[in-house]
Amino acid sequence: MLDESASGTVDLLERICVPVPAIVIGELLGVPADRYAELRDAATAMVTFDASSKESATRLVGAVTWLAETFTNVVRSKHSAPGDDLISGWVRARDDADILSEDELVSLAFLMMLAGLDNAVHLCGNIFAALLTSKDPLGDWSTRRREVTEAANPLPFAIRRFAVENMTIGDHTIPEGDTVLLSLFGADSDPARDGRPSLMFGRGPHYCLGAQVTDLIVDATIPELFVRYPHVRLAVPESELEYRSSWRAHGLVTLPVTLAR
Ligand code: HEM
Repeated sequence: MLDESASGTVDLLERICVPVPAIVIGELLGVPADRYAELRDAATAMVTFDASSKESATRLVGAVTWLAETFTNVVRSKHSAPGDDLISGWVRARDDADILSEDELVSLAFLMMLAGLDNAVHLCGNIFAALLTSKDPLGDWSTRRREVTEAANPLPFAIRRFAVENMTIGDHTIPEGDTVLLSLFGADSDPARDGRPSLMFGRGPHYCLGAQVTDLIVDATIPELFVRYPHVRLAVPESELEYRSSWRAHGLVTLPVTLAR
């Protein structure tokens, strides 16, 4: 990450945006601190996966295998030595009520990691990019934070839904069985939104479980960079920032900046 000695040009995505959420989610789940470096590497392999590269696919398989083994060991260890973390809470719930198998607990840990990591990484990257290309990068962060965060949302669509019956919305019919992609970007930029809260974290029973964690991650990463490096600036023109070619997440490939105090 960025310690006091960091200087010159660095990739903020690699140095801050990937490792911080990996550590925060790891800590939340109760992964031992001495595994954070591997967690960060597994996380990097996941969020940088390039389907056209064999090497990247091999890295991804290694990362997923490591994560499955690690989560399985964490779930087992929390049974005899519970802590103040999410997996310990799930294990307690399982032991008390005899619900959730070990496989289900490991899958839940994976869900938290997968649902959270990519979004948090790209949200931080998009916020940094927006601030670094604005006139007054940090400004009064506490008053701008909500607006900047919502504008930097990396998640265009909600999780897939399936029509369980024929549905008519406006003059459009969605036939039973069709897959439905709900556009969060579309809803949030709807001129008729009229003060309705952002759908960035969804709504209703599937409201994002990590919304508060995201706030923590954003507050732990964004202001600190500008406090430590008040003259930090993009190392390339804004037009040369490269975004991932993905319909799933609107995020950067790299975010090169020049650190300056
Ligand atoms: C930028 C950050 C994030 C964004 C924009 C985001 C957005 C969302 C959205 C829109 C949903 C609802 C999807 C739907 O209804 O189809 C969701 C669900 C979820 N999110 Fe997040 N999320 C973020 C970060 C996180 C983090 C950090 C975690 C975990 C540590 C997390 C865990 C989850 C989980 C587990 C669900 C599924 C909840 C359910 O189905 O009941 N998210 N998220």
